[in-house]
Order: sequence, then structure tokens, then C-alpha cells
Amino acid sequence: MKLNKVVIGIAADHGGFELKGKISALLKTAGYGVKDFGAFRLVPDDDYPDFVVPLSRAVAEGKVFRGLAICGSGVGACVAANKVKGIRSALITDPFSAHQGVEDDNMNVMCLGGRVTGYALAWELVKNFLNARYHGTGRFKRRLDKVLKLENEAE
Ligand code: RB5
Repeated sequence: MKLNKVVIGIAADHGGFELKGKISALLKTAGYGVKDFGAFRLVPDDDYPDFVVPLSRAVAEGKVFRGLAICGSGVGACVAANKVKGIRSALITDPFSAHQGVEDDNMNVMCLGGRVTGYALAWELVKNFLNARYHGTGRFKRRLDKVLKLENEAE
């Protein structure tokens, strides 16, 4: 019997292009499905919102399980992702935050700096992110309910 693959969305501008290729290959080898939102070729003048926003919308709409957004520093990708309703995104550089950001804060798009984080560490971060699950109760839910209220007020 063939099991349905968990599909991970991934996007990068020129600054994250190389790391996106490496992480996509590692995800596929690990058995994940990968939905690539571009960039599909290295264009030094491309803009991270053009790739990160469609990825973030797909995550918010439940079309992919979680998202990985990569630019040079990871900062621009994170700024753009967090503008999409339903996205909880953070720039992650350490293994603890990669899982704790999901467990406590229900992070659904993890951002990486392609010019900052090497691919071996990046892969450890990705594995921690994808294997983590949100607690979803008690003080964690109370805190995110406050964030959700703020997001709804902004409409
Ligand atoms: C490189 O152009 C850089 O500005 C971009 O990839 C990203 O790091 C922005 O935050």
C-alpha cells in the first residue's frame, strides 16, 4: 500500500536558491513530497515576496503541511511570510528554537538564511521543525489566542 506523502512547501529568492536545492533534495530522500514555489532559476535581482507569499498562502490554506522560506539572511522572507493571515513564521538559526517554535508557538513557516546557515545545520533545523507538534492547550493556546485576536482586529 502506498501511503500519501506529507508535502512540504519551499520557496527562496536568489539569496536562498542554493540552499533550497539542497534542502529539497534531502526532503525527497527522506520521503517527503516537496511543492516548490520558486525561484526556479538563479536570478540575482529577484524579489523574495514573489516566492514567499504564494508559499505562505498555501500553508495558510492547508495545501501544504508546513513551509520553508529562504532568502539571504532569512529576514526578508520572515517579514513577508508574517504578513499573510494565518502564518506564524520565524527566522531560525538554532536547533532548540526549530522545535520549540512549533511546540509553544505553532510556527508553520520556518525561515532560513541561505547566506548564513550551512546546509548541514539547516537540515537539522528542518528535521526538528517538521518533527515537532504544537502543544495546543493551556498557556500556549491562551497566548496564541491573543495573537489571533490581534490578527483579526487588523482586518
Ligand atoms: C539579498 O538580496 C537579500 O537582500 C535577500 O535575499 C534577503 O536576505 C532579504 O532579507
